[in-house]
Amino acid sequence: MQPYVPRPVSNQKPYVIAHRGISAKAPENTLAAFQKAAQTDGIDMIELDVRLSKDNEVIVLHDRTLQRTTTGNGPARSYTYKELQEFDAGSWFHPSFSSERIPSLGQVFETVGKKVWINVEIKSDIFHREPPGVLETAVLDIVREYEMTERVLISSFDHDIVYRIKQMEPRCITGVLYNLYVDFFHLPSTLALRAKADAFICAKHELRSWMLNDAHKYGLAVYVYTLDSVHQAVTLARRGVDGILSNRADDIVKAVKES
Ligand code: G3P
Ligand code: MG
Repeated sequence: MQPYVPRPVSNQKPYVIAHRGISAKAPENTLAAFQKAAQTDGIDMIELDVRLSKDNEVIVLHDRTLQRTTTGNGPARSYTYKELQEFDAGSWFHPSFSSERIPSLGQVFETVGKKVWINVEIKSDIFHREPPGVLETAVLDIVREYEMTERVLISSFDHDIVYRIKQMEPRCITGVLYNLYVDFFHLPSTLALRAKADAFICAKHELRSWMLNDAHKYGLAVYVYTLDSVHQAVTLARRGVDGILSNRADDIVKAVKES
């Protein structure tokens, strides 16, 4: 698999990125959802969310707390990785997924890292902010251990984290996630260049043509989330975005690549 570049070059069509895996058809951020994505032709990348367990294992989980997507309760940071493995991370979605567990980032790299690129979104919470460098070091250790340095996009709503990742590992491609409430007055290029990032990522309702033009003027990639209908995805592909994140990446991929 070739190294990841932030803007598609060979086929000029936007990358199709499975948001939390094929999360419309399998529990989000589980190996089941990631394997479905890796097995689908044309899907370029998987997006997932990471945070730390009590013993500083990098775990793949969207929420700060466990109750929405697992049988556990309370903050994930209060449990060791081993304790977290007791919880069922699939039944909330469908009983047939009861054997799913919260994966570690290493497990995901091992399972699908050779087949697709991985967008590692580093979560940083207002209720619990890790000291600077803690999350970044833990994530980069795993990325290097699995030789994924040139096959990941590391992104975050916390642009200080994005900046530090690039400082610590310049070979990693990075992206700033747009937070409307914090970043409203700033151009995409200002936000991305300030964090030394390669990509600007925003929600579909946030994207304006001037944002796309501004980012492209500076050679930055623009990715948009979460586009779950073929019509929406093709419309955005035709507008010139570089990446489309979807919970139904398997359903939209053919149309996007033929758009
Ligand atoms: O990385 C894009 C998107 O995943 C950001 O929002 O809440 O789905 O992690 P969220
Ligand atoms: Mg995410």
